[in-house]
Amino acid sequence: MNLKNLFLFTAILYFTGVRANDIAIGRASLVGERIVEFIPKGYDRNKTPSLILRSEPKPRGPVPKDWALTPRFVLTGDKASAYLRLSGDISLYGGGEVTGPLLRNGQHIKLWNTDTGAYGVEEGKRLYQSHPWVMGVRRDGTAFGIIFDSSWKSELRTESDEIKFNTEGALFRIYIIDRESPQAVLKGLAELTGTIQMPPLWALGYHQCRFSYGTEKKVTEIADTFRAKKIPCDVIWMDIDYMDGYRVFTFHPENFPNPAKLNDDLHQKGFRAVYMIDPGVKADRNYSVYQSGTKKDVWVKTPSGNEYHGKVWPGDCAFPDFTSPKSREWWSGLYRNFMATGADGIWNDMNEPAINDNELPEGQRLGTMPYNTPHRGGGGLPAGPHLLYHNAYGRLMVEASYKGIMDANPAKRPFLLTRSNLLGGQRFAATWTGDNLASWDHLKLSVPMSVTLGLSGQPFSGPDIGGFLNNTSGDLWANWLGFGVFLPFVRGHACAGTNDKEPWAFGDEIEKTSRIALERRYRLLPYIYTQFFHASRTGVPVMAPVFFSDPANLKLRSEEQAFLLGEDLLVIPAFAQKPALPSGTWEEINLVEGDGIDKYQAKLKIRGGSVIPLGKIVQNTGEKLFDPLTLIVCPDEEGNAQGQLYTDAGDGWSYKKGDYSLMTFAAKQKNDMITIRATKKEGNRNPSDEIKEIHAEVYLKGRVYKGSGTLEKGIQIDIKKQ
Ligand code: NOJ
Repeated sequence: MNLKNLFLFTAILYFTGVRANDIAIGRASLVGERIVEFIPKGYDRNKTPSLILRSEPKPRGPVPKDWALTPRFVLTGDKASAYLRLSGDISLYGGGEVTGPLLRNGQHIKLWNTDTGAYGVEEGKRLYQSHPWVMGVRRDGTAFGIIFDSSWKSELRTESDEIKFNTEGALFRIYIIDRESPQAVLKGLAELTGTIQMPPLWALGYHQCRFSYGTEKKVTEIADTFRAKKIPCDVIWMDIDYMDGYRVFTFHPENFPNPAKLNDDLHQKGFRAVYMIDPGVKADRNYSVYQSGTKKDVWVKTPSGNEYHGKVWPGDCAFPDFTSPKSREWWSGLYRNFMATGADGIWNDMNEPAINDNELPEGQRLGTMPYNTPHRGGGGLPAGPHLLYHNAYGRLMVEASYKGIMDANPAKRPFLLTRSNLLGGQRFAATWTGDNLASWDHLKLSVPMSVTLGLSGQPFSGPDIGGFLNNTSGDLWANWLGFGVFLPFVRGHACAGTNDKEPWAFGDEIEKTSRIALERRYRLLPYIYTQFFHASRTGVPVMAPVFFSDPANLKLRSEEQAFLLGEDLLVIPAFAQKPALPSGTWEEINLVEGDGIDKYQAKLKIRGGSVIPLGKIVQNTGEKLFDPLTLIVCPDEEGNAQGQLYTDAGDGWSYKKGDYSLMTFAAKQKNDMITIRATKKEGNRNPSDEIKEIHAEVYLKGRVYKGSGTLEKGIQIDIKKQ
């Protein structure tokens, strides 16, 4: 705040009689390994419930003697804030879904989930999700993170000497994690807020979307073209036009007359089908979902007790009050019949919730429900205004959707994508970064955006590849897909009225490039699936900033063009100019024929000391992709390398009962002999049942040495003989 503003602010407080009062800490206790909970005096969980934490933390003892980070709580009138002073040179990250740079020092974001189509690259400060979370990395690579456990409308400022969190609501709790590395801090975040569920393998393949593939015939044509052209793809998405007049949980009688048959056909061809479901329910007395919701009394009401209505795609809609367990249960139940058509996944959109109030004069438009709209709560949540629950609306919706999908198909892993969410909501849904633009700025921004989500507890994210709004050129598409295939979630999407954006839509050359890019994704799936396993277990991100390879190297702290996939693979997009790269051995690798000479493909470098498992090129994950397995090996200075492979049934829950295999591959070079073997195994699954043949490609000082073998016998390569 500059001096003029400070003066103005103080004057307003003085004349309105509102004073800023420091609030003492009522209780501070250790609630996990180097995790401290701070509760201000006067904190009332009936005013600020926690919608972020996975479960209620249990005090384990006093704050450690060497603890350095203590927040300050302030009440200005009835509005709570908190501040954390920073000493020394700290690199700040996090804040969830944000535009602007990866390095967050000097940034300001508003936490008020908003439908912000075509958001600015720098100035768009308010997006679809809220993550009141900041991570700081010290010069020596040790790190800390702070959770502001509040969903009230708020603002987060990450200044170099202080983190400031100002809310429009009541006092809240704070959690600070202080550990030896940024990775360890993210594990702490996951201990408090949970991790993603292991996704089904198919969800890691390529997804093709458009607003909208408007008929069953068109969907089939898209699916058939992928197969005819041998371009790998796993999922086709149905945007709003599949519905009957945008009524959720219905199908358009002429354009989607037989969804069960469509889904069955798609399954036969090795595709999965994902369908959009929005929260707004058309207020139509002849519509069964509206009728049953009204009967069950699930809708949000106005302060005077009438049904709240807001306009979305179908016109006037009623909105489930997801704070109420009764409404959530009702919503979950709607998925039973819907999933019975064979739908494989669900896309929850517009759930900030976004409401079209353009008929109001400009100054009065909120784009969502009025702040004082009451929510009824229940089951541990207090009743409270929209100002408290707005940022949790999408998060509560996906909790109910997740449960509904799970109840409908208990033997399968739900796949759910959401536009809106709150810190901790990764437990229920993956996400994408909303309505971006087909522009170079947005292409570049998509790297720090997804990395930052990963640094904020959400490892399963990606942008609309190619750009959603405006037409996309072949050049932009190919550049985007060239690195987009290494993002955790890989989906091409396009807005209504824009040009076709399928991999073949830009002519032969770009089609070939797209095929190469997607084949690279599919070959890497064994490695990527292994990273998702780790993310679901510990909360480490799938896609990480380059500085994770060497957190004490200050030169890497703001690198946001290149990124890491897992710990062992460095991805350098074709657009990257002079990226800051880690020191040590990183050898460039090739995954499919022609990828090294295609100008659009990202460069891939393997870390010295690691082994990366690759599968074979398949058209979808229903094919056997793990056999033969190829191990890409890059020994370190001592001639050693290690890597892991996780496999399981690819879907379902048997892995939770031990039906999985986590193997460690170790390579050793001794003089001219390189030996590679599977050394350790966790889990009861026998990998030899599905992997009969293994190959190795050893990258040593710019040369590649090849060999073959089996899991039992391993591989020996005599480099003199090659
Ligand atoms: C807004 C979403 O952000 C976009 O992805 C979708 O295509 C449209 N809604 C239409 O459903």
